[in-house]
Amino acid sequence: MKTGQELARAQQDRWEQAYEGNPRLHGVEPSAAARWTARLFGAAGIDDVLELGAGHGRDALYLARQGFSVHATDFSESALDQLRLDAQRDGLDDRVTAVLHDVRDPLPPADGTVNAVYANLLMSMAFTRAELRSLVQEIRRVLRPGGLFVYSVWSTDDACYGRREDLGDGLCTRDGFAGRFFDEELVQELAAHWELGGADRYAEGPRQLLRVTQAKPA
Ligand SMILES: C[S@@+](CC[C@H](N)C(=O)[O-])C[C@H]1O[C@@H](n2cnc3c(N)ncnc32)[C@H](O)[C@@H]1O
Repeated sequence: MKTGQELARAQQDRWEQAYEGNPRLHGVEPSAAARWTARLFGAAGIDDVLELGAGHGRDALYLARQGFSVHATDFSESALDQLRLDAQRDGLDDRVTAVLHDVRDPLPPADGTVNAVYANLLMSMAFTRAELRSLVQEIRRVLRPGGLFVYSVWSTDDACYGRREDLGDGLCTRDGFAGRFFDEELVQELAAHWELGGADRYAEGPRQLLRVTQAKPA
């Protein structure tokens, strides 16, 4: 098995290659999680969002079209280039920024300055459980008290769960992409020191997913 650093580098290369070879890899329609999250954030009076693992920005562009300012990050420059071009084409570049960032590194914002963080499938990527704990701690650091974090992940209810090559520590791989399926125990673990608003199962195409909403205590 690759060490954490080797796996991380291999994943960055794999995603870069995937986005270079397949423009608009995830399609142009927003994810179900983005539609749901826009309603939640809108009702909470939030107008700016930090999106982690935004890819080529199908959700960032959707959120911007709904009136949010979106600061989108990913560790694939190729994906972010696509996002920048599409934002420019659609006249949304005043509401969308796209910045290269590996979420294993500290998040750029200062403590308590972010209203809302959104991540569709980022948390299901190739992170050890320790890295996931550090990431949610870092997200809690940058959120203001009462700030919201919504993430969606592959669920252990998914038909693919248990059918991929096992990498250990709950990670598995297919076609060179490594990832993790979440159960409720992991959701609860990552919600320590948060207010857990909900962990809702839903389906998107053939995938079974979990959408988690948690708030930094006020
Ligand atoms: C399954 S894709 C989802 C993309 C986007 N959220 C969407 O739904 O269209 C996962 C994304 O996470 C990014 N990613 C994986 N590991 C990352 C890391 N350590 N730091 C930043 N981005 C990462 C990948 O480049 C990829 O764009």
